[in-house]
Amino acid sequence: MKDVRVGICGLGTVGGGTFNVLNRNASLIEGRAGCTIRIGRVASRRQNDRIELGDIPFSNDIFDVVNDPDIDVVVELIGGYDVARELVLAAIENGKHVVTANKALIAVHGNEIFEAAEKKGVIVAYEAGVAGGIPVIKAIREGLVANRIDWIAGIINGTGNFILTEMNAGREFSDVLKQAQELGYAEADPTFDVEGIDAAHKLTILASAGFGVPLQFERAYTEGISKVTPYDIKHAEMLGYRIKHLGIARRREGGIELRVHPTLVPKELLIAQVDGVLNAVLVDGDAVGQTMYYGAGAGDEATASAVIADIVDVARAVSHGSTQRVPYLGFEPSALEDLPVLPVEDIYSAYYLRMQAEDHPGVLAKISSVLSEHGINIESVVQKESELSNGKIPVIMLTHTVQERQMNQAIAELEALADIDGPVVRIRAENFS
Ligand code: HSE
Repeated sequence: MKDVRVGICGLGTVGGGTFNVLNRNASLIEGRAGCTIRIGRVASRRQNDRIELGDIPFSNDIFDVVNDPDIDVVVELIGGYDVARELVLAAIENGKHVVTANKALIAVHGNEIFEAAEKKGVIVAYEAGVAGGIPVIKAIREGLVANRIDWIAGIINGTGNFILTEMNAGREFSDVLKQAQELGYAEADPTFDVEGIDAAHKLTILASAGFGVPLQFERAYTEGISKVTPYDIKHAEMLGYRIKHLGIARRREGGIELRVHPTLVPKELLIAQVDGVLNAVLVDGDAVGQTMYYGAGAGDEATASAVIADIVDVARAVSHGSTQRVPYLGFEPSALEDLPVLPVEDIYSAYYLRMQAEDHPGVLAKISSVLSEHGINIESVVQKESELSNGKIPVIMLTHTVQERQMNQAIAELEALADIDGPVVRIRAENFS
């Protein structure tokens, strides 16, 4: 039986998990792969005391893995953009296949990496970069290959979902974030989780694999959860909605929407009930309809599950003397469409609006008239008489779908009304019908 030798770069949360699961399930994995998968070398800045290296060569220089002639597959688990890019490009240059869990790397440098890999005829696999252990890249590229995909939406940051879920139960933001870090869910820089950057990396990859467009992370609209208040969570709930942090990619005439932001979703939808560190991705295909992929979006062994799935794919190919099973983004490079990401003003969404209004006759009529002048239809209104303070009351509204440009103009006009005090809070809403 052929031996495929894997070199692991990085022994943090995911590196440790990958090492342990590969060892624990070695014979089961071998039976499935049809070849032996051996860890030939490990390199990391720091040792991980949760793993037993035995006689596997270890070094502190990750480039030792790339330069080891006996290694077939370089597994990049160091994270970050720059050193990881250098490492992966060096591995490709040396003719090695690459497995990575690094969504930042793929979202930002993926076009360059795939081009280099294509020239060298090596595989670059990145399932673990998106939604942790959920095999959603494989589902989109392979299981849904027959479909024209019109939209993808998901909870794709476990830390953010964990924080929103716990805030819903009354806990403080900073407490929950600390716990997520201790549990190994959060990024090295947790602002990537909290400000939506990590979700935007993942959405960029999902959109490219779904629609067959080049990776365009720099054009994604990104808004995090740091401004979501318990007040809005409670009032969304009263209107029949949950606030979830979603990544939404939608194919439109002439471009794609690529946006990450807090979103109201009807409580009865399955995705609204995905809590804690769990992720869920909805994919709408023209033949299959809506499908949903659900599971652990972060954590050591959950993410290792996806890393090892890619290792096995590569090992099967290597042991059969072939190079690539599916194109990097699921489309042949020549078939990628040059569809641009649309500016956020061009997206279509429903909206939750909250404003402080003077409590006197005619105010609601003025608000409605501004909205109707911009073609905005109101679905529901709540006036909180019980919260009257200094002659002002909160007014909360839910609108039907409208173009963001229209909503921006309407909000500017509302904020200019003498009867409205302070900024109008806006949270986008979706019902996926
Ligand atoms: N920080 C990421 C998350 C890890 O919380 O989802 C998995 O990509």
